[in-house]
Amino acid sequence: MKTLGSFPDDFIWGSATSGHQVEGQNQHSNWWHWELKTETQPHSGRAVDYWNRFEEDHALMAEMGLQAFRVGIEWARIEPRQGEFDMEAVARYLEIFDSLNKHGIKICLTLHHWVVPQWAAEKGDWRNPNMVAWFLEYVRFAVEQFAAYPFQWVTLNEPMVPALAGYLSADFPPGRHNYFEFRKVVRNMLQAHAGAYQLIHQQDPQAMVGVAMAYPDLQAWGSTGLAGAYERFIAGLAKRFIYQAWDDSVKTGKIHPLFGRGEIAGLKDSVDFCGINYYFRMTLRFSFKHARSLFIDQNATPEGIEKNDFGWQIWPKGIRTTISKVWHQFAKPIVITENGIADRNDEKRAHYITSHLKQISLCLEDGIPVQGYYHWSFIDNFEWNEGFDMAFGLVAVDPEDPNLTRKPRKSASIYSKIIRENGRDLNPVL
Ligand code: BGC
Repeated sequence: MKTLGSFPDDFIWGSATSGHQVEGQNQHSNWWHWELKTETQPHSGRAVDYWNRFEEDHALMAEMGLQAFRVGIEWARIEPRQGEFDMEAVARYLEIFDSLNKHGIKICLTLHHWVVPQWAAEKGDWRNPNMVAWFLEYVRFAVEQFAAYPFQWVTLNEPMVPALAGYLSADFPPGRHNYFEFRKVVRNMLQAHAGAYQLIHQQDPQAMVGVAMAYPDLQAWGSTGLAGAYERFIAGLAKRFIYQAWDDSVKTGKIHPLFGRGEIAGLKDSVDFCGINYYFRMTLRFSFKHARSLFIDQNATPEGIEKNDFGWQIWPKGIRTTISKVWHQFAKPIVITENGIADRNDEKRAHYITSHLKQISLCLEDGIPVQGYYHWSFIDNFEWNEGFDMAFGLVAVDPEDPNLTRKPRKSASIYSKIIRENGRDLNPVL
């Protein structure tokens, strides 16, 4: 199946967004309420109004040659009040999917991307033992309505991010610092994933279902002596918390001791593909100045390493080590469900894309079945606590512009060229 380059003929070239980050007016959600908490917190507001401008966006995608789009649906929109499903919202999502079909763009559907309905948040969200059942009601409904469309499903996007940021570091809603709650939340999310996996397969036994996991490349800085030993210890611990304990639980069906005890029915091996979200490397450095973060400077950057607008290290090799690690653990096809860069001026994005694709092509040469690549993001969007300050889009949008004019960046043309040549030339010149 190989062409001249190392990308197979059926490699899927796509890009991604999530509902809350692009749709706008997701008013019945916990994030909307979190955004209203203080004056200084950025508001998603109309976001980039994908809810009304999807047709224009899909036409742009088709022009770029995108073959697939990872799109999210919002639970809070579909079930704004408990037990009440909003058929107008369903109809709109159906229009969105029909429009993608019309443009010949395949759909990878994310069921949950961090955001929950406000009614569930008020009842304790993922801390409430009933949350799993509530979530599965929503999934059952969504699968019944939408099963004809997706060729890939993502049950949960980066579950460990809202678990860690919501219940340990208090950066995300509900803004808690509580290890016991964190454990409960992860156990419930594991159960929610397992249940969603089963529901989708009941509807479509051939469905391809996965989780999109965040895998930062976490390394110790490499200090000498005790400081170095401490850095290695923290790097190991961080890996376990951020992805390894979750992955081990999914692989074995047994809850990892970090989260509790016991087994979850239907969890073992409950992925048909492994979704990898990869962005950056972190080199964890011991520092007395960082007492509040366990004496670790998370932003320490070796000389000569480029960073994105967020301050994240650009480290293409990390995507290869991640792919290889995940493949060796799960032996399931790999999909790069997210990879991208905050780069408003578009100075580094094209090279970011090509350098990461080169690493992916090396994985393909190693015989690892990487099936597709979704660039994050198709369009600038609401970047959570950073609001619109971080620009990840292949397409630029100024949130102040009353018309929210879509302006494809130069890197979009470069990605488009790569797609048209199926990755044969990773040093494209326009
Ligand atoms: C998330 C996205 C986010 C992106 C850039 C990913 O971890 O899934 O929602 O916008 O990173 O920070």
